[in-house]
Parts: sequence; C-alpha cells; structure tokens
Amino acid sequence: MRVHRYETAFLWVGALMLVMFLGALAYTSVAMGIHLPGRDARIVPEEVRGEPPFDRPGLRQVGENRYELVIIASAWTFQPSEVRIPRGAEVTIVTTSTDVIHGIHIEGTRVNMMVIPGQVARNTFTFRDAGEHLLVCHEYCGFSHHTMFGRVIVE
Ligand code: CUA
Repeated sequence: MRVHRYETAFLWVGALMLVMFLGALAYTSVAMGIHLPGRDARIVPEEVRGEPPFDRPGLRQVGENRYELVIIASAWTFQPSEVRIPRGAEVTIVTTSTDVIHGIHIEGTRVNMMVIPGQVARNTFTFRDAGEHLLVCHEYCGFSHHTMFGRVIVE
C-alpha cells in the first residue's frame, strides 16, 4: 500500500501533537499539581461551617509572606465579601460551596476557580501590585447570581 507523502506528513503532525498534549498533561498534573479534587478534598456541604478551615473564613498568615484565604461561597454571597491582602503576599485560596455550583474569578488576575459543593478547591496566587479587584461569581447560580460579588484589596 502506498501512502501519499502529504498523508504521511499529517500522520506525523498528528502523532507529534498527541505526544505534546500528553506531555503537557503529565507536566501539569505531576510537576504543577493541577488535578481534579480527590477524596481528601471532599466535604459535606451542610457541615462546611463547622469544618476547619471553613469554621474561620478569612485571611490567615501561615508563613513569611504566605497566607491562606478561606472563602465560603453560598447563594448569593462570598464569606468574607471583602478581603485586604498585603502587597506581594502569596495567597492560597481555599474555597467550597454550601449549596450549588459557584465560581470565583478575581478580576485582573489568573485566579479562576470552580466552586463545587462537596469539594474543596485550592489555588495559589501572588498579589504583586497594589489595587482593588472585583471578586465575582462566574457560574450561573440562580436568581441573584448577578449580585454575588466581593472585593479584594491589595494594600
Ligand atoms: Cu454564585 Cu453565580
């Protein structure tokens, strides 16, 4: 069987792309630790407020220039709705939902998280510049979805 050389070239391009995508998948999951929430990151939505760290929502210092920001999302508020962060701080956002699926996007940053009831989501970001960011819910979560927002102030 004779395969046309263009066809051969396209097969090689396809195979190369497959290898590149698998490589990217392996790199992000192993080296960068990006993966779906596992069993250790499950939580009962009705008991969120009694479970650490969600029993103390807000910003907490965990090391030199390192902070943990615990946010509870529920229809239709974020708790806390306003956060003040020191400039240059490395902040790990830990969040979950008590009811339906919400989202967290901090405007002007790459922080963009799905907040799924029953699962705990984490994301680390360094706030290098002072300023005010809108924190919005970007998953439609019901009647007052459009009123679900907060503020992140880097000072
Ligand atoms: Cu919460 Cu939309």
